[in-house]
Amino acid sequence: MLTSDKIKIGVLISGRGSNLEAILNAISSGELNATIEVVISNNMHAPGLHVAREHGVPKILTLDALAYASPQEYETHIIEELKSDGVQLLVLAGYMKIVGPTLLSAFKDHMMNIHPSLLPSFKGLNAQKQALEAGVKVSGCTVHFVTDDLDGGPIILQQAVLVSDDDTESSLSHRILLSEQDIYKKAIQLYSEKRLVIDGQFVRILPEGGMS
Ligand code: GAR
Repeated sequence: MLTSDKIKIGVLISGRGSNLEAILNAISSGELNATIEVVISNNMHAPGLHVAREHGVPKILTLDALAYASPQEYETHIIEELKSDGVQLLVLAGYMKIVGPTLLSAFKDHMMNIHPSLLPSFKGLNAQKQALEAGVKVSGCTVHFVTDDLDGGPIILQQAVLVSDDDTESSLSHRILLSEQDIYKKAIQLYSEKRLVIDGQFVRILPEGGMS
């Protein structure tokens, strides 16, 4: 049984939304003690918007960053929407835009991202392709807190995925995605149980049921 308080989540997406869907499924199954209050996409064609609709997310918005006078105004609008719904944790799920200082300071220590590599290896775009080109035998995925250091914030959870000789970018991405969907919900649940303590670059995970 989940004993933590239900936390209110906001999710930013740009595309497919399979991590969003995994989080929504984990909420439905009772694995994750949270509610998704709002989903915001910066891309009006994001398939993830349908995912949010199908799961009955109460507020779904498309905000075009280019329609704002400045990145600050764009992010200020995002913050207003999130705060008006009482969002405590902001989850980036395939949000392919660099988060600026306005949003960073509003959700400092309360914003997570999933990245398809074992950070600090292969930051930035096309991480799975970078891994294949580097010839690594193990890759994986990372959930981390978001800071102004791109893909460099404190690491919460990681999961390794073996790379096989005949992997393509697509086959490796698919296996990494399954791991992403597994660890993202776990990281969010740890946050909801107040078990994540940020200490500089390090995240300490408190044991279940109390302080260490
Ligand atoms: C995921 O693989 C996620 O790790 C990656 O985009 C994909 C989104 O898939 N994010 C990044 O590369 C961020 N740097 P989804 O829309 O199906 O969740």
